[in-house]
Amino acid sequence: MSGEVLEQVTRWALRQHLTTPVQLFCRQAVTDALARLREHLDARISYAVKANTHPLMLQAVRDVVDEYNVTNVAHLSMLVQARVDPQRIAYVNPVIDEATARAAVEAGVTRFAVDDERGLRLLAALRSGLRFTLRLRPSRDGKSPRSVIRFGATPQELGRLAGLAGDLGADIEALSFFIGTHSEDLASGAPYRRALEELAEVKAKLAAGGLEVSTVNIGGGFPGARRRFHQDHPDFFARVNEHLRAVLPDPVNVVCEPGRFLAEPSMATLATVITDRVAAGARLTHLDVSGYSGLFETTFIEEGGASLNVVTGGSGEPSATQLLGPIMDSFDVIKRDAFIPRVEDGAMILLPNTGAYSFGYTASCEGVRPPHVVPLPPELDQLMATTWFD
Ligand SMILES: Cc1ncc(COP(=O)(O)O)c(C=O)c1O
Repeated sequence: MSGEVLEQVTRWALRQHLTTPVQLFCRQAVTDALARLREHLDARISYAVKANTHPLMLQAVRDVVDEYNVTNVAHLSMLVQARVDPQRIAYVNPVIDEATARAAVEAGVTRFAVDDERGLRLLAALRSGLRFTLRLRPSRDGKSPRSVIRFGATPQELGRLAGLAGDLGADIEALSFFIGTHSEDLASGAPYRRALEELAEVKAKLAAGGLEVSTVNIGGGFPGARRRFHQDHPDFFARVNEHLRAVLPDPVNVVCEPGRFLAEPSMATLATVITDRVAAGARLTHLDVSGYSGLFETTFIEEGGASLNVVTGGSGEPSATQLLGPIMDSFDVIKRDAFIPRVEDGAMILLPNTGAYSFGYTASCEGVRPPHVVPLPPELDQLMATTWFD
């Protein structure tokens, strides 16, 4: 099935005279992902804009998501220019300098996430009437071998922060957490359950002190909507929902902040094989797309591209190869030990599910350019959105 998709996409790309590497935008995949989330999770949806800021993506989520969350002023400006009401935008990066805070407030943003005294004092001094989310660092914080966890406070620190908010007359509207993207037991929703339990304790303590917090924000971290994970665990969101109900039985507003869940299936990278060769006894398949040009997630975050799907033509027996980018250094690795048939020089290959943290994540080393982004025509849009790539 995926070979057929590649064939149809290649034929269309050639007819369109597209030059690779190109990212093919699949709107239907975003629409379907949103529908799925709405159906299974009782939460307001705040799109994590940083996951994909392409105008086609912003258009696809527009009027379908409830809110947006941003981490920087550049992304905030994009939303403001697209005439998104700033009341629907939360600024969620707790480490903020004064100029940035001023710019966000001047743009009309009134909601901010904080995790320390400094951030709260800085923002509260800028304008009255701002609303704050206190961010908890869950004890299972999703740390990966490559990351340094840096956001979120302990329950004790949050207690002190809430006290300070009271002194400053600042409004605490929500408690939040982010489970990270390196979570074990994700299928059972266990990281959400644990974090919810910790957050519920904080909520109860604040309530005992007279502060009722009306909203709980469970962050993002849901795997991309067209990952095998969802095929294998179709009840994932139902589980998270159950945990929400079990841990917080009293009425509470729930917000989620999906980034990759919506953005990942929105783009597939189409690349050309420069050559599939054997050098010094090793099979090496060189592509015209670089790990430095938008494959940041699979190249740098998840080293070795283990979860990257590779769709090739060719009818031979698959064998192991190193899938490499065109940069002349040894670090431009797209996928280690990919298992694919031999491919012709000049053939096209498809890397589906590359829409998260890819557009805009390009380094211009050695003449690498960001892939162009081209929307798929309706029939291919539909086909791509409904194909599982394993
Ligand atoms: C607070 C917050 N919300 C949402 C997201 C989006 O995460 P994801 O793309 O994993 O859904 C992030 C990612 O870093 C985050 O820090």
